[in-house]
Amino acid sequence: MITFDHVSKRYDDGTLAVDDLSLECATGEITVLVGSSGCGKTTSLRMINRLVEPTSGTVSIDGTDVRSSDPARLRRMIGYVIQQGGLFPHRTVIENIATVPRLLGTPRPQARQRAQELMDLVGLPSSMAKRYPYQLSGGQQQRVGVARALAADPPLLLMDEPFSAVDPVVRKELQQELLNLQSQLGKTIVFVTHDIDEAVRLGDRIAVMQVGGKLVQFDTPERVLARPANAFVESFLGLDRGIKWLSFFPAKELPLRLPATIGPASGPVDVHRVAAAAASEWVLAVDGDRRPLGWLEAAALNGASSGTVDLGSLRSIGHAFSPATDSLRAALDALVLSPAGLAVGVDSGGALVGVANQDDINNAIQTAAADS
Ligand SMILES: Nc1ncnc2c1ncn2[C@@H]1O[C@H](COP(=O)(O)OP(=O)(O)OP(=O)(O)O)[C@@H](O)[C@H]1O
Ligand SMILES: [Mg+2]
Repeated sequence: MITFDHVSKRYDDGTLAVDDLSLECATGEITVLVGSSGCGKTTSLRMINRLVEPTSGTVSIDGTDVRSSDPARLRRMIGYVIQQGGLFPHRTVIENIATVPRLLGTPRPQARQRAQELMDLVGLPSSMAKRYPYQLSGGQQQRVGVARALAADPPLLLMDEPFSAVDPVVRKELQQELLNLQSQLGKTIVFVTHDIDEAVRLGDRIAVMQVGGKLVQFDTPERVLARPANAFVESFLGLDRGIKWLSFFPAKELPLRLPATIGPASGPVDVHRVAAAAASEWVLAVDGDRRPLGWLEAAALNGASSGTVDLGSLRSIGHAFSPATDSLRAALDALVLSPAGLAVGVDSGGALVGVANQDDINNAIQTAAADS
């Protein structure tokens, strides 16, 4: 456990970067420090590995004041990942990753062997081992940064906006990979970001900081979203705070109904099959494996006794959600995007499980809110 006990930091020019911070980052959890630029996140993080010394108060690791540890030794025990990797430009990928084990005296062959394993763990092909950082994409550099920080198998990992220099798609991938890694490794991680979505996604607990280095709320993401401590936190969470909060409630309790369907349809749809569906307003076209293809307005078929419906005339379902694994947020989003006002649920193979309408989702939200 990392403990901040009444920690303040005033820089030489008088800037109060951190003001009386008390915080406990639990062992084996991801604690996220989040807040707008200049609120003291980096300063707080760097007081853990003594790159910055507090002006007052104590930072301790498992009860031992960090000031009693030699800074160089301390830093070897604590992995540190920064934006854009912070890699050594004149060292290859494998040399970068093997840096700390080599410093700690691990013989070269073993250090390289370990580096190879780590490349695999963070999803880097071994063909990249001999490249230099400038020969990698931003996302690949970040992976090297994470692998390097893990090389000495440190119990603690500090990450300062590690994913902010990559595009949103790669960023999501890296976040997911970090969560996967963490579920295997169970490190104590302190993660800094100014992105509230990233904080909510990664944090077991999030610490929201305000400019002037003040901690304003420290709680689980779910509770921060449901009950922001003050107007600053509320505005920081944004206008879709309620929607974000829904990501904590599984969609599996949603009652699903079976919509009128036509299909299997590969190519033009046989209108004969739609007779039974004419009573409902929208008909879902499905393929031979019952995977949704799109919505069809039943009125367009009324009276038709034969002929075909062009697949091109189907309206997109928007996206489907997975009742087994997704949250109410995904179900609501699917509803909003659906021309039929029905969120389409599918199984892991993409086959139709059922649909939920607005009332179904509303009721589920009410129940979730009442239980929380
Ligand atoms: N070495 C320094 N000397 C003087 N002031 C500093 C120094 N380092 C940081 N500061 C100031 O301390 C405050 C907190 O800075 P810090 O880097 O901790 O913020 P941050 O939350 O990490 O911001 P960002 O999101 O922009 O990275 C800022 O006002 C900054 O200008
Ligand atoms: Mg910073």
